[in-house]
Order: sequence, then structure tokens, then C-alpha cells
Amino acid sequence: MLELKNISYTVDDGKGIIKDLSLTIDDKKFIVITGPNGGGKSTLAKIIAGIVKPTSGQILFDGVDITDKNITERAQMGISFAFQQPVRFKGVTVRDLINLASGKSLTTAAACEYLSEVGLCAKDYINREVNASLSGGELKRIEIATVMARKTKLSIFDEPEAGIDLWSFKNLIDVFEKMHDEIQGSIIIISHQERILNIADEIIVIANGELVNRGSRDEIFPTLLDDTANASAGCSVLRGVK
Ligand SMILES: Nc1ncnc2c1ncn2[C@@H]1O[C@H](COP(=O)(O)OP(=O)(O)OP(=O)(O)O)[C@@H](O)[C@H]1O
Ligand SMILES: [Mg+2]
Repeated sequence: MLELKNISYTVDDGKGIIKDLSLTIDDKKFIVITGPNGGGKSTLAKIIAGIVKPTSGQILFDGVDITDKNITERAQMGISFAFQQPVRFKGVTVRDLINLASGKSLTTAAACEYLSEVGLCAKDYINREVNASLSGGELKRIEIATVMARKTKLSIFDEPEAGIDLWSFKNLIDVFEKMHDEIQGSIIIISHQERILNIADEIIVIANGELVNRGSRDEIFPTLLDDTANASAGCSVLRGVK
């Protein structure tokens, strides 16, 4: 179980990015976080992963206080994170990344299976270097494959649909639906996509650094379509693939 207690993140000019936010995520839950651009979703994900240190508040993971633990320690405890904009690793191949993520030396067939799941023709990619020659969408899919290979207790995906074409997006939804059915740990997906919101056990809406709503798909979905709610959140949550 993940518990965020009164988390705030304030930047140097005094602007509050996350404001006294408390949140509990139970085991084996498929949670989708949504909300307007600039609302604080990616910052919150980075705070959970240990990339950004909150100004105040406490984070517990399975009852252990991880507030002062760094990204590596949190990864070892079972938290994995796929960036909205993935990083490139010069000199490291796709196969290396998947092996590293799974913690073992996988057979080519096993490593390829992860790539196929995210819609990549595996044999074309397995020995490619994770450098600038990969397109943004390819890189994004490779990163999703590595998080899947890790099979950790908590996996966080920041806008997995970003930069992914419509055809591949359909495959990606299938992948997440499968993850939902076979869920081992908890999954947090940050997304603006209706089809991803549809498979959530629970939707959390974050706007202006605060948790503004939380509930089942049926409870939250109508409020997202409500113009007044969108206007007050300063956005239209449901929009096309970015
Ligand atoms: N280090 C920083 N210094 C100043 N402002 C920051 C910093 N980090 C984040 N912000 C601001 O905090 C706000 C929240 O950013 P964040 O990336 O968390 O939003 P988001 O909800 O993920 O948005 P999107 O839907 O566009 O991805 C933005 O206005 C961003 O510019
Ligand atoms: Mg973001």
C-alpha cells in the first residue's frame, strides 16, 4: 500500500506545485490519474518515484517511511516509473534494458515478447542502441516494455499514450487491459485518454496541485464531461491523442 501524507512541493519562487495532498493507494489496484495540463500529475509521480523531493509531507510504502529514500532504493523496494518523456541511453541496447529491468538474462524469445506486446516488431529492435536514432514513439514503447518486464509492486506510467500513433494505441490499450486482468501489483497510469480511464478501478483527478475528485469510473466520468467541472478545472480532460 502507498500512502502520501500531506505532501507539498513548493518551488523557489514560492509557487506551490503540490499542495498538502494526501492519498492512499491499496494493493492490486489499477488507478488512473487525470486532470488539466500543469495540474501537478507528473510532479506527483516523480515525488512517488523519488525523482523529486517534496518540500514537506511523508510517503509510506507498505508501512515503511520512504520519504528520504532515493530513486534507486525505491526501485529496489518495488516502485518503477515510465517517464512522460523517456530518457535515452547511449551505448545500451534495447535487450540490455529489458534484461536489466527483469533482473535476469532473458532468452531472445522472452525479451522479444515484451517488445511485441507494445507493438514493436521485436527482431528489428532487440539489438538497437537506445540512442537518438529511435523515434519518440519507439522509445516510449520500449520504456513501457521495460516497466512491464520489471513486474514490480507499484508501476507508474506517465501518459503512456503520448506520442504513440492511433494504431499502436489500440495495442497499448490491449496491453493495459491484460495488465488489469492479471494484476500482481498496483498500477498508476497518468492519462487523458477515455479508453484508459475506462479500465480504471478508480480515477483520481488532480488540478492546481490538489486532489479534486476521486471515485469509480462511473462516478468520475460524468463530471469530466461536465463543462462546468472542466471549466473550473481549467481544461478539457478528454481530448485526442497528444
Ligand atoms: N522545478 C520546477 N520549477 C518551476 N515550476 C515547475 C517545476 N516543476 C514543475 N513545475 C510546474 O508545475 C506545474 C505542474 O507540472 P506537471 O508537469 O506536474 O503537470 P502535469 O499535470 O503533469 O501536466 P501535463 O498534463 O501537461 O503533463 C506546471 O505549471 C509546471 O510548469
Ligand atoms: Mg505531465
